[in-house]
Amino acid sequence: MTRNRKKPSLQFKPSRDTEYSTKRLSEGTLSDFECLFETHPAPGAYSCWCMYNHRRGSAPEKKGSSRAIQIEGNRREKKALVKQGRSHGILVYARGEPVGWCQYGLSQELPRMDNNPKYCKLVSGHEKARWRIACFLVHKKFRLRGVARTALKAALAAIRDQGGGLVEAFPVRRWAAYQKYRGTVSMFEREGFRIVARLGESNVLMQRTIRSALKDRR
Ligand SMILES: CC(C)(COP(=O)(O)OP(=O)(O)OC[C@H]1O[C@@H](n2cnc3c(N)ncnc32)[C@H](O)[C@@H]1OP(=O)(O)O)[C@@H](O)C(=O)NCCC(=O)NCCS
Repeated sequence: MTRNRKKPSLQFKPSRDTEYSTKRLSEGTLSDFECLFETHPAPGAYSCWCMYNHRRGSAPEKKGSSRAIQIEGNRREKKALVKQGRSHGILVYARGEPVGWCQYGLSQELPRMDNNPKYCKLVSGHEKARWRIACFLVHKKFRLRGVARTALKAALAAIRDQGGGLVEAFPVRRWAAYQKYRGTVSMFEREGFRIVARLGESNVLMQRTIRSALKDRR
């Protein structure tokens, strides 16, 4: 458990004019990430600590351990990955308080999809993506106000700064579908992604190539 840290109050009511800012996940912003997850912003988020996509299968603590131990294990592992520079994401802030999150990373850092037989069939023979946009999370009070859209833009800018390349996403086609945390097709279309294939009943595989900012600076 984290102690001596100010919890976000999130007392203010967001309006249409609420402005957002973003920061990248780092050791310096890890406490903001923790603050957001400690507010239990969506069912399952607090227990997951956005570790699901970092693993191909179950967590090592899963077998026979209590839920509390599993949660602490996820939290500890997330912290370690951030310290090693192997966990990336964007935090969205409103009035200085963290209200939203988007996880992105290299495909080897977020290997969960490589365990999906439908996905593996689809990508065999295609160019392998370097990057994945794996998860979104917006605090209940701040939904439907463009927080996820803001996070996605910032994630793409970060990928550009980190060398660019092929980026893939797995959004839902219908809002009613499960896995909304993967984002919606229109969000990605707006950012220049195109649908490559259907991925089961509800999700699609989308891709876009991001040019490296490093090349532009040369
Ligand atoms: C999915 C989620 C990230 C969307 O965040 P958001 O900030 O409300 O989304 P935005 O306002 O930026 O809108 C993004 C798109 O989704 C659509 N959308 C968002 N909420 C919607 C709703 N309730 N019904 C229909 N469409 C919706 C928007 O219309 C928009 O579509 P557009 O691009 O066609 O305009 C948010 O609902 C959420 O965090 N849900 C919980 C996810 C979760 O459980 N994550 C943790 C997993 S452990």
